[in-house]
Amino acid sequence: MNVTMIGSGYVGLVSGACFAEFGAHVTCLDVDKKKIADLNTGKIPIYEPGLENLVRENIRKGQLQFTDSYGDFIGQSDLVFIAVGTPSRHGDGHADLTYVYKAARELAKHLRGYTVVVDKSTVPIGTAKHVKRIIAEENPAADFDVASNPEFLREGAAISDFMRPDRVVIGVETERAAALLRELYRPLNLIETPIVTTGLESAELIKYAANAFLATKISFINEISMLCEAVGADVHAVAKGMGLDGRIGRKFLHVGPGYGGSCFPKDTKALVRIAQENGATIRIVESVIEVNEAQKARMINKIRNALGGSVTGKTLSVLGLTFKPETDDMRDAPALTILPKLLDNGAIIRAHDPKGMNEARTVLPETVRYFDDIYATLEQADAVIILTEWNAYRGLDLARIKKNMRGSVFLDLRNIYEPARMRELGFEYHCIGRL
Ligand code: UGA
Repeated sequence: MNVTMIGSGYVGLVSGACFAEFGAHVTCLDVDKKKIADLNTGKIPIYEPGLENLVRENIRKGQLQFTDSYGDFIGQSDLVFIAVGTPSRHGDGHADLTYVYKAARELAKHLRGYTVVVDKSTVPIGTAKHVKRIIAEENPAADFDVASNPEFLREGAAISDFMRPDRVVIGVETERAAALLRELYRPLNLIETPIVTTGLESAELIKYAANAFLATKISFINEISMLCEAVGADVHAVAKGMGLDGRIGRKFLHVGPGYGGSCFPKDTKALVRIAQENGATIRIVESVIEVNEAQKARMINKIRNALGGSVTGKTLSVLGLTFKPETDDMRDAPALTILPKLLDNGAIIRAHDPKGMNEARTVLPETVRYFDDIYATLEQADAVIILTEWNAYRGLDLARIKKNMRGSVFLDLRNIYEPARMRELGFEYHCIGRL
């Protein structure tokens, strides 16, 4: 089976490499010539555990190749995936579909024989039908169907999420398209992965509804954590006690400084817009977005209060900048809201992140100072702030830190340490939703 994957960003690259691993012949296409030249030598533009090996291995086996030209392989493909970026459009929160439509227009010219054109990018409801119209306009003779096949990959765990998903969602208009997609996903059938086959609009909505629901769980527990602090409850116990109810589930009930990343912030906003445009209300998701912003603001207050009401002139050592561990992605990371505000208020910021510092340098104010060594970051600190729960921060030499820092405030915004133990060691320990 021949597959072209348009867009060699995060989703396109992971999906392309995994389909190649499943046995398809995959060509990943991107208009960025430099990226393609790098990929052809096995050089990966992002950090994702396991991806580089998978790409190299499949290039070696002849299953995977890269091109910057639409003319090369689309004509021989059974399936053409669109996996280009859909950033939030400035001003209105809507997903920007410029790249999706451009890809549709370009690919249309090269279709030969029956082909299924599949949207993998997260796109508003109705996009697949729009893509269908564009292709039919550009190439009235084309023999094709459109489909929607949203991805549910988490950064940092994308390969295993792809290889062992909870489900695969296929939105189609014809049985012929469904059969081709099921054939592509056959290796997952062997491990009894449920394949949900549905119409185009339902598949498109499933993706937004799933992400919005997960974001809701996070905002819910973040809000409950505030109540925990007020009444003296422990948010971990509350999350566990709730989550063990099979109808609720334990996952995504971990408190933090607010969700970030390339998906939840963008998709929740887009869903609100989609609802508004269709005359429907989706007040829960509107609140989820508000609560998430409030959570970041609450973290700034927490830091200020822990330092006696002002951060002016205080040295804050920040561990973790990316929106979550095991990624170098800084998109919508809470650090982007929290750190500039602290700098504005006169704080001095020393920062460390295992993978995100290069990216952080381009998006955080220039005054942030970066350190390759965790302990060098913490020297002379008035306060230590854990913003991302990288494994490297779970087993810190706490006695050494305590000795070398100036103050004793430890703000653990991911709740990875035990409050009693931290206080025993002499820290003024602050976390979220636990006393
Ligand atoms: C998310 C979804 O989990 C994937 O299923 C989906 O495919 C992807 O978006 C997407 O739409 O492409 P991702 O953004 O990589 O994946 O990261 P998550 O692991 O979901 O974490 C998102 C944010 O929520 C992070 O900032 C994380 O720290 C935060 N989070 C997560 C919490 O604060 N608490 C939790 O309990 C879980």
